Amino acid sequence: MDHCQRERKSSRRSFLTSQLRWLSAAAGAALLLPLIRFTGYRVKPKPRHVTVNKLPGSLTPHTDRDFILFVFENGPVAVARRCTHLGCRVNYRRELDIIECPCHQSRFSPLGVRRAGPATADLPTFPVRELRDEQGRLTGYEVTL
Ligand code: FES
Repeated sequence: MDHCQRERKSSRRSFLTSQLRWLSAAAGAALLLPLIRFTGYRVKPKPRHVTVNKLPGSLTPHTDRDFILFVFENGPVAVARRCTHLGCRVNYRRELDIIECPCHQSRFSPLGVRRAGPATADLPTFPVRELRDEQGRLTGYEVTL
């Protein structure tokens, strides 16, 4: 084997080695990508149904841990109690007819519309379903969180 043949064989070997490295890297990435996607996957929480077995009014709302339920002439509205600023639990102030956050005094209308304060977004609302007995009388509400 002369010098030229040895050199050609050596360059072929280095070429094959580099190709093998690229293939290994591609195979590793192909296996790793689904794993990375899997670890970032979040299961959406199931909706939670809360039954309110009383009939609140617009000025005497029902206050739950996660929502305040008002019943207006147009129908019931369940407003989230989690402030859109930093997440404190808001309260309804009947004397002012507003929802107020105790942390930084953001204020919202009973429909959850932002009126003042550092919060920049309205309070979210939840779907409400009326519950009726066999005679069709209203017995309560079901709020879906
Ligand atoms: S957390 Fe409600 S105003 Fe800041």
